[in-house]
Amino acid sequence: MMILEGIMTTTSAAGEINIAPMGPRVEQTMERLLLKPFRTSRTYRNLKEHPEGVFHVTDDVLLMARAALGAVAPVPALVAAERVRGGVLRDCCRYYEFRAVAIDDRQERCEIEVLVVHRGRVRDFFGFNRAKHAVVEAAILATRTDFLPLDDIEAEFRKLKILVDKTGSEQEQDAFALLSQHLIQVRKTRGTATSTSASDVYPRSNRPKDEAR
Ligand SMILES: Cc1cc2nc3c(=O)[nH]c(=O)nc-3n(C[C@H](O)[C@H](O)[C@H](O)COP(=O)(O)O)c2cc1C
Repeated sequence: MMILEGIMTTTSAAGEINIAPMGPRVEQTMERLLLKPFRTSRTYRNLKEHPEGVFHVTDDVLLMARAALGAVAPVPALVAAERVRGGVLRDCCRYYEFRAVAIDDRQERCEIEVLVVHRGRVRDFFGFNRAKHAVVEAAILATRTDFLPLDDIEAEFRKLKILVDKTGSEQEQDAFALLSQHLIQVRKTRGTATSTSASDVYPRSNRPKDEAR
């Protein structure tokens, strides 16, 4: 099993589509995915209300960054999924329509096992690019400011920026700028104290678990 980072669309009971980056555990065959959404996420709440969605493999790291930071506006073009009630991103590389078969929400990071019921291919994946990977890393870090030390995240951003500047295009630059802006905002709202570490904020016993990611 490996983790595959992508973008997931889920649908609320009222029919509103949510777009969020997620990294399910997958097998090569992509027949089943194991999702681990935080219980605080809209993705989790939507899947409880309507246990179907679409997982997308894409190289659009700007959309990934925007979706990591909150509701995406304007919403990217979506087409109706074929086998589930949900939306497929018009621009993506591959997509997997799925239905949840088991939800285990006894832990903070709950586990949802889903079965792929339909799949499609839209366009080629760009390929390895260090700036794209740097943006993916930065986007993950940006969603963890509540429980990782801000100093560490900022230090990581300084390293990642070098890769973005050296190897990226405008899309990666824009995505990274957006994420950096978010970090600046978080720093501002928290004040300028720089000596905080995770162990200051959370005693080891109740620090949110980051598992193997
Ligand atoms: C590449 C990537 C992978 C992510 N994987 C997960 C994940 O597996 N589970 C999770 O709860 N959050 C994950 N996140 C963080 C969520 O995307 C983030 O918390 C987001 O705000 C949740 O959006 P939602 O509330 O609209 O569902 C990931 C973020 C990125 C950038």
